Amino acid sequence: MSALTETIDVVVNEAAGGTHDTRVLQLAREDGTPLPAYRPGAHLDVYLPNGLVRQYSLCGPNAQASDYRLAVKRSSESRGGSEWLFNHAGNGTQLRIGMPRHAFGVDETAKHHILVAGGIGVTPILSMAYALQAAGKSYQFEYFVRSDADAVFRAEIMGSSLAGQTRIYPALAPDAVRERITDLLSASKAQSHLYVCGPAALMQMTAELARGALGDGNVHMEAFGPLAVANADEREFTVKLNTRGGVVTVPPGKSVLACLRDAGHEIESSCEVGVCGTCMMRVVEGEPDHRDSYLTDDERVAGTYFIPCVSRSKSPVLVLASDT
Ligand code: FES
Repeated sequence: MSALTETIDVVVNEAAGGTHDTRVLQLAREDGTPLPAYRPGAHLDVYLPNGLVRQYSLCGPNAQASDYRLAVKRSSESRGGSEWLFNHAGNGTQLRIGMPRHAFGVDETAKHHILVAGGIGVTPILSMAYALQAAGKSYQFEYFVRSDADAVFRAEIMGSSLAGQTRIYPALAPDAVRERITDLLSASKAQSHLYVCGPAALMQMTAELARGALGDGNVHMEAFGPLAVANADEREFTVKLNTRGGVVTVPPGKSVLACLRDAGHEIESSCEVGVCGTCMMRVVEGEPDHRDSYLTDDERVAGTYFIPCVSRSKSPVLVLASDT
């Protein structure tokens, strides 16, 4: 099983809008055949002509539409993927994409949905807001941005049916963001679920506050970059490779992937932030602590696969195999 196995050839049929550092791309099949439907919150791989593979959330207002919409942010930290799309993708550019992956999305059992987005993290959150609005569900949409000019889709959101449930916060200091999140959690209704996507600091702070207020199972995150700060509860554990006979110790703050490589094992990788699935391994024994955005909920429960670039172990020993 790999996201790399099934791909679709598409063409950019619109490249416009966004902000000074964000470009919105509409992708469709060249012959107009509808692309597969997806669930709001889904992301997919984009295979770039320069050989890189990058992940983007689908952010269109209609998950059943025949085309896909992505928003690409040019970043000073870009490793060449978003930079290429921002500078070179225009009308008619041909691209290859993977199938939509569903590691993030609304929990249908929730009575109320709290959507929190920071910056370009608005992309999966926006498609979720549209779906909740269309389904007549109870939700609120909290969107934190550096400035009004940095709010991607601002005009679209505030001109749409989402406006009544949406608050956009430009230029709040970190303390003010924390205060706002604390306030909205203390006012949250019973059986609320919170979803957050954005910069690592916003995600970690929001998730920490929300877990305390709503419980672990009611908090959902989508990370498209490494979460910078190691969790305080990270512990050392041991990884054994059943096929190659290696044993490595994984200390807090260091990934399984890095430890295996240091020990001389070759493991293929691409994103190294837990979203593409390239590094995926099979679990032979032990209990994984899944921290990726690649595996689906069913795959996590089954405990068959493991993403070594970000995930850790709940058991003292984890036995892995590289034959997925
Ligand atoms: S390298 Fe992409 S998920 Fe690990």
